[in-house]
Amino acid sequence: MIVFEDVSLVYPNGVHALSNISLNVARGEFLFLVGSTGQGKSSVLKCIYREACPTSGDVVVDDWRLSTLPHGKVPFLRRKVGVVFQDFKLLRGKTVWENVAYALQVTGATSRDVARRVPRALELVGIAHKSKMFPHELSGGEQQRTAIARSLVNNPLIMLCDEPTGNLDPETSSEIMALLARINSKGTTVVVATHNQASVDRMRRRVVRLVHGRIAHDEERGRYHVGLG
Ligand SMILES: Nc1ncnc2c1ncn2[C@@H]1O[C@H](COP(=O)(O)OP(=O)(O)O)[C@@H](O)[C@H]1O
Ligand SMILES: [Mg+2]
Repeated sequence: MIVFEDVSLVYPNGVHALSNISLNVARGEFLFLVGSTGQGKSSVLKCIYREACPTSGDVVVDDWRLSTLPHGKVPFLRRKVGVVFQDFKLLRGKTVWENVAYALQVTGATSRDVARRVPRALELVGIAHKSKMFPHELSGGEQQRTAIARSLVNNPLIMLCDEPTGNLDPETSSEIMALLARINSKGTTVVVATHNQASVDRMRRRVVRLVHGRIAHDEERGRYHVGLG
């Protein structure tokens, strides 16, 4: 589903963010990316949704070779790949319902489609009862549920989460991780960059540790401190 072929990424300022990353994430897999700040976790995710382009090597997403993907196809890639961030990135002037609906409307969905799919996404993440609220009226966990609904509403094949619990308390964090696991169990491939040791250790999924832009460790059913001895 996601293949990194010897990917290196050097930013324009000369920082070597990723060096010779080779990685294969199977359809339906759940993978944690761990590593301290600055080791390249976000850069790996950016290469998957083509926010960044490798300096060498290539990334293949669901049979789309990204180095040769025409620019005009990037919006279609973004429908295959939902992204969730630490700071939620909700539109402040729109309600929960409108935030989720907007993600569908920009793809040209009919109003009938919107009316059918938005409630389904809101229910799946457990936020349907707050659909008329604005982001500032919600707790952090509720805002993240809304952001997850927004990325789910287009039925993505892959969900990328960049420190999705970074702004949440421990209990809310484990609820959000449980929600991501539930989404994964329905078939979506999920990649989560995280510092949330408790969840990684509890969930025992595949763990990839990045150190200085390289894969230092890759373990099935790993723990947060995998590779650190
Ligand atoms: N847009 C950018 N331009 C230049 N350097 C960047 C950019 N984004 C990240 N970096 C650098 O690349 C390295 C990896 O960063 P990042 O992928 O954000 O790591 P992480 O998500 O693990 O904290 C760091 O040294 C960071 O400073
Ligand atoms: Mg990061």
